[in-house]
Formats: sequence, C-alpha cells, structure tokens
Amino acid sequence: MLLEKMLQSQGFGSRKNCQQLIKNGAVSIQGEIVTDLKHKFDIHQPEFSVYGTEFQYREKIYIALNKPSNYECSHQATHHFSVFDLFDDVLMNRGLQCVGRLDQDTTGLLLLTDDGQFLQALTHPKKHVPKVYQMQTAAPVTAEQILQLQQGVELRNEKDVFAATDVEALSQNELKMTVHQGVYHQVKRMLAAVGNKVESLHRAQVGQLQLSSLAEGEWVYLSDEQISAAKNLSEKIVGI
Ligand code: URA
Repeated sequence: MLLEKMLQSQGFGSRKNCQQLIKNGAVSIQGEIVTDLKHKFDIHQPEFSVYGTEFQYREKIYIALNKPSNYECSHQATHHFSVFDLFDDVLMNRGLQCVGRLDQDTTGLLLLTDDGQFLQALTHPKKHVPKVYQMQTAAPVTAEQILQLQQGVELRNEKDVFAATDVEALSQNELKMTVHQGVYHQVKRMLAAVGNKVESLHRAQVGQLQLSSLAEGEWVYLSDEQISAAKNLSEKIVGI
C-alpha cells in the first residue's frame, strides 16, 4: 500500500497533508525515516511512527472503554464531557462512533469502532446481543419486581414487551440483569415500570465480553477474540 494512502487511512489527514508529513521526514518505519513518496508500506509489518510517536496500522478499529460518569456519548456534548474527548484527533479523523449509547450518568463497558458492519451486528434490533447491567436501586428490590422483570414489562411508546434474564438481587438495593434489546433509557424505564428507580447504573458485559481489569476512563483496542466475544459468538466469557 502506498505510504501516503496508508497514512490517510489511519487518520493523518488529507492526501496532501500525508505527503507533506513524508516530505518533512516525520514518518519512520522500522527506525528509518522514509521521505520517498513512492514508498510501499507493508501492512504485515504494521508499526510506524510519526514525529516519534509509535502507531500500528489497523484496517478497522475496535475499542473498549470503561466509561466514566459525566461523559455523554454524543459528539456535541452539551452539559458534560464527550466520550470522544478521550481520543486523539488521529482516531477521531477515522470516524470513530459509539456502538449504542450509554447515558451520561451510566458507567461501564462502551464499545467504539469505525467499522459500520460491526456496529450494525451489535446494535441491530434483530440481533438481540445481551447486555449485562448492575444497578443501585432507590427502594429495596422485591421478589415481585424480579418476577415482573423476568416476565416482561411494557414501556410507553414501545411496541415490544421488555423482559430481562438472569435477574438477581445482589443485595437489598442492588440488582443485576441481562437485557436483550437496546432502546432509549431501557433499564431505567424497566425499573420504573416495576415501581422502583435506578440510582446508579453500570454496564458490566456486552455479548460475552466482560469488563474485568480495565480501570474507569481507560480504553484498549480489542483483540480478534474479544471482538468475537462482543458479537456474542464466543463459547465463553472473555474478560477485558
Ligand atoms: N439503560 C439505561 O436506562 N441507560 C443506559 O445508559 C443503558 C441502558
């Protein structure tokens, strides 16, 4: 692949901009500065650096973020920070998008990608990728509420009935459950529908990909195994 094309695909700006970087001697491959505009970049040796910063060629990007509270999933955040503030311009130039949304006050596993097919595979209503949430509730969780959540509740302006699986009270005011759709404020509305209220919400798992050691505010690129797990194509839970 022509070096300038590779740089362009990785978010380093326009073709002209990438040519200029090469001409300026900003780009190194295996420790050697490359100024030849005709240089062919070998994607099987994906490391390169720009102005001394190391990068790796990635055809598509798949990221897991442990989302902190007070961050919105929109590009133009109004009252809080945007999750996109956590990523540099090079990544943003690639058209990074959130895979579904978490509310501003929800913490936990948020996936981001520039791969439209991956985004569709995880968010299409027919795919029903399970998502595990843990929450603190305003009132103690009752057996009746658990039963109602398992049997399904109706939500205003939605046609479907929304049922959760693996509903478990972790303590008096702490609940864990798995949902299989992804409509606006779904978990909070489901809890309101059974007469309780979510005080704080955390997403622990998407598909078979489970948050384990990633600290709040940190993000990592997903491995192929983790990508399959997120799509729910894995036999077992994979941690991140
Ligand atoms: N359900 C909600 O109510 N909020 C979220 O952020 C995610 C699921």
